[in-house]
Amino acid sequence: MPEVITTVRTVKDLRARLAAWRKAGETVALVPTMGALHAGHLALVTLAKSKADRVVVSIFVNPIQFGPREDFTTYPRDEAGDLAKLAKAGAHLVYAPDLAEMYPKGFTTHVKVGDLTEDLCGSARPNHFEGVATVVTKLLLQSAPDMAVFGEKDYQQLLVIKRLVRDLDIQVEIVGGEIVREGDGVALSSRNGYLSPAERKIAPLLYQTIHDVAAHLAQGEGADAASEAGRFKLEAAGFRVDYVAVRDPDTLAPLSGPVSHARVLAAVYLGKTRLIDNVPVPPPASTNR
Ligand code: PAF
Repeated sequence: MPEVITTVRTVKDLRARLAAWRKAGETVALVPTMGALHAGHLALVTLAKSKADRVVVSIFVNPIQFGPREDFTTYPRDEAGDLAKLAKAGAHLVYAPDLAEMYPKGFTTHVKVGDLTEDLCGSARPNHFEGVATVVTKLLLQSAPDMAVFGEKDYQQLLVIKRLVRDLDIQVEIVGGEIVREGDGVALSSRNGYLSPAERKIAPLLYQTIHDVAAHLAQGEGADAASEAGRFKLEAAGFRVDYVAVRDPDTLAPLSGPVSHARVLAAVYLGKTRLIDNVPVPPPASTNR
């Protein structure tokens, strides 16, 4: 018998399920997703299960975090496949609202997080973080979980969410889950499927390059020289580089000169596909190369 997982589609049904768990004294973790689930998402479910009694996974492709020329309509959707994976991973409930449930007619309230959203991915995707902050705030208020788990691959997003929770006094612990990579180092992403075979061959160079940047920083090279060298290497390999940046890991403030504790973040295009990745300084010992 294939495992099945209960799916609710309204805030009312979600709250009814959660109220029963809370009444029984159980803690709840929320894992927000846009579906098209891969092993990276399932690792977040496993992490959530290790920290809470019950795990709710939301699946909602959030239109307001996509720009007008971005991939909202073509974003991969596979609800049946996602439900099967979540049942197997041992999640307890799926919350999959439709557009009208999340944004009822007349919806006008948006959450704008300040400085953290103004550069890096915020420059190339002007309304992206406002869309993320708005939907995540709604998901947190709809489910009122004890904790919510987000992947570190979207590192800037993770910090934006931590900031909004702090600034709006939302009582929830935000937990970051480590990036899951393919054997060749490529960070798992629902958008990797857009890559042509030729682009997929080049893709591992993104992680290799930012890992090298982090290693050079750890050896004392200055932030500007190391990030410039990274950009040069990526462009030479055929990437269109949006940014290679060395930032404070907590505030995302730009760093220059020698650094001992930092995050290297990069965003690139391979053809039309935007890829992001990041690595801590000092970098992990295993390079997956
Ligand atoms: O990281 C994502 O998948 C999305 O940005 C999120 C956090 C589910 C909000 O739509």
